[in-house]
Amino acid sequence: MDIALTFNLKKEDETKPADYFSEFDSQETINAITGALESKGHKVKFIEGDHPNLFSFFKNNRIDMVFNIAEGKHGKFRESEIPAILDYFGIPYTGSSTFSLALALNKALTKKILKAENIPTPAFQVFQKGNEKLDRNLKFPLIVKPNCEGSAKGINASNVVHSEKELFAKVKEIINAYKQEVLVEEFIDGKELTVGILENGKPVVLPILEIDFSTCKKSGEYFYSWRMKEFQGDADLGLTPTFHCPARLDKETEKLVKETALRTHRAVQCLDISRTDIRLDKNNIPYVLEINPLPGLNPRESNFPIMAYAAGMKYEDLIEAILSSASKRRKTTDG
Ligand SMILES: Nc1ncnc2c1ncn2[C@@H]1O[C@H](COP(=O)(O)OP(=O)(O)OP(=O)(O)O)[C@@H](O)[C@H]1O
Ligand SMILES: [Mg+2]
Repeated sequence: MDIALTFNLKKEDETKPADYFSEFDSQETINAITGALESKGHKVKFIEGDHPNLFSFFKNNRIDMVFNIAEGKHGKFRESEIPAILDYFGIPYTGSSTFSLALALNKALTKKILKAENIPTPAFQVFQKGNEKLDRNLKFPLIVKPNCEGSAKGINASNVVHSEKELFAKVKEIINAYKQEVLVEEFIDGKELTVGILENGKPVVLPILEIDFSTCKKSGEYFYSWRMKEFQGDADLGLTPTFHCPARLDKETEKLVKETALRTHRAVQCLDISRTDIRLDKNNIPYVLEINPLPGLNPRESNFPIMAYAAGMKYEDLIEAILSSASKRRKTTDG
C-alpha cells in the first residue's frame, strides 16, 4: 500500500514550556513505524501535522491509507485536526474518528459517558473559573488535572491535594497555565494498570500492564506523573517504575479489568487501537481514569508496545495489525 505517516515531531525549543512537546512523537518512533511498514512491503511518505502544504500534499499524492499518530496542535479538539482533513478528502486513516479523538481528549465529558454506562470512574467536579464551591460529596485526597491534556501534562506530585486551600491554589494555577477548565477527581490509592485493545475484526484485549512505582521512592514521585513519564527510566532521578505484564492480578480481577476496558473502548467508539488507564481501589474495583485512542508507540518505552510484546507480537506485527484493522473497515464501508 501507499501509506502517508502523519505525526507531530518532538523538537528542541527552549522558548517553549518544558512540557510543550510532551505529547508529540520522537524521530525514533517515526523511524520505527516507517521501518515496520516498509518491512511489510508498504511505501511510506511523511507529512508533519502542521506542515504549511498539508492540503496540497493530500490533494496531489495518491495515498491508500494514512497511518495517523498526529496529536495535533490547536486547542481542545487538536487530535481531530488531521482526521478532519482526511475525512474532507475521503482518505482512509488508521485509528479512531474525529469524533472519538475529540471526545477522549475531554476527560470530564468521557467520564459522563462512562457514568451513563455504569463504568466506574473516580467521582469528580469540573472547575471553569476556580471560584466555584467544592462539591461536599468529594472526599480528600483529590487530584487536580487539566481537563484536555495528555502525557500527564500539568500533573505532578503536588497535584494531589489534602485541603480546600491546596485545592483552590492548584486549580487556579492549572487554569492559568493551560487556559482550560480543570478536572478534580478523588484520588484512587491503589494499583496502576493500563489496558491495550487492538482490533482484529473485533476488539481484542492484550495482557494487562501493571506499573509499580514502589521502586521510585528516591524521586519523590509515586504515580504516573509528568516527570515520571517524561524522564522514565532515569536512574539518577529515581524515575524507574517496574512493569509487570501480565499484571499481578487474580483471575476474577483480571477479567473485570479487561471487561471494563472493553466497555470503555466501545462506549467511546474507538477504532483499531486504544489504551485505557485504570486504578484499582482497595476493593479491587477498577476505576477508569481515561482512554487514549492515540497511545504512544515508541518501541522501547511506550506502554502499548510492552503489552503487544507480552502477547507475543513483534513491533512490526503491532503496526501491521493497526493497519490491517483500518483496511478491513475500509473494505466494509466501501461495501
Ligand atoms: N483519580 C486518580 N487517582 C489516582 N491517580 C490518578 C488519578 N488521576 C490521575 N492519576 C495519576 O496520574 C496519571 C496521569 O493521569 P491521566 O491518565 O488522567 O492523564 P493523561 O495526561 O491523560 O495521561 P496519558 O499520558 O496517559 O495521556 C495516571 O496514570 C495516574 O498515575
Ligand atoms: Mg493517562
